[in-house]
Amino acid sequence: MYQKFLPKSIFITGASSGLGKALALDYAHKGITLHLCGRNQERLLQVAGSCTEKGAQVYTYLFDTTDADKTRHAVQKADQTKPLDLVIANAGISGGVLGTPETDESVRKIMQTNIFGCLNTVLPALQCMRPRKKGQVALIASLAGYRGMASCPAYSASKSAVKALGEALYGQQKSNGIHITTVCPGFIETPLTDKNQFYMPFLMKADKAAHIIRRKLEKAPAMIAFPRIMAFGAWIGSILPGWLARPIFASLPKKEK
Ligand SMILES: NC(=O)c1ccc[n+]([C@@H]2O[C@H](COP(=O)([O-])OP(=O)(O)OC[C@H]3O[C@@H](n4cnc5c(N)ncnc54)[C@H](OP(=O)(O)O)[C@@H]3O)[C@@H](O)[C@H]2O)c1
Repeated sequence: MYQKFLPKSIFITGASSGLGKALALDYAHKGITLHLCGRNQERLLQVAGSCTEKGAQVYTYLFDTTDADKTRHAVQKADQTKPLDLVIANAGISGGVLGTPETDESVRKIMQTNIFGCLNTVLPALQCMRPRKKGQVALIASLAGYRGMASCPAYSASKSAVKALGEALYGQQKSNGIHITTVCPGFIETPLTDKNQFYMPFLMKADKAAHIIRRKLEKAPAMIAFPRIMAFGAWIGSILPGWLARPIFASLPKKEK
């Protein structure tokens, strides 16, 4: 029988939309304190309202995760309000639609948001949890991070960094009593993918993806990768030798640059 991690105080970035919103709603119950973060006040308050209706106690935080000071301040404020059991670094962006070029500016923005925004959330979370020697941190990466993909270079590179960071922190933080989980989903139906003009295999509803993540996080695994068949394909792609992988990956549709 495994130990079940049932967090009562949960901090989620990117809770105003898509997967973060679905996670907030999935966790929202009586006895649960949710610290919901985003930049769009109107959407964030709507999510907060729905979570409150489900019985959760909700606090909202408006900030940009690329601002390290503001993000640290929000994490610390949330932890002082109710010590955090689980922090989900979910806020993230993707690049242009297939067929539109990835500009230098968008490449930098993706890296700033997906890598540094994640770091800005995770580092203060670890600082808060370390003295207590307990806590859980989930980093939302992607199956697109298993190998550099010409279809979304900046996005796959940024998610590769988040994946490696999560994997590394898992080993590093274990002895501190902090459980790190890297989450690599496939395609999820959200505003991030709504703009994609290509076929997305195994596209999953956000509420289903959130439910899978919540249930799996109860076991605090090192990695959550789904849907299983896509995760297997991504893993195979990651272990293929370069000479074999390059022509396969080059044949995938890509943006012109
Ligand atoms: N959808 C997929 O297929 C898929 C697959 C694998 C992984 N993921 C990952 O899942 C996460 C959530 O994506 P999603 O699909 O739910 O996208 P989404 O619907 O566009 O939501 C993105 C969320 O991130 C927030 N955000 C973005 N940049 C931010 C910043 N600089 N500071 C603070 N908040 C910021 C947004 O806040 P505001 O709207 O308030 O600005 C929004 O709440 C991302 O990390 C994404 O890479 C998604």
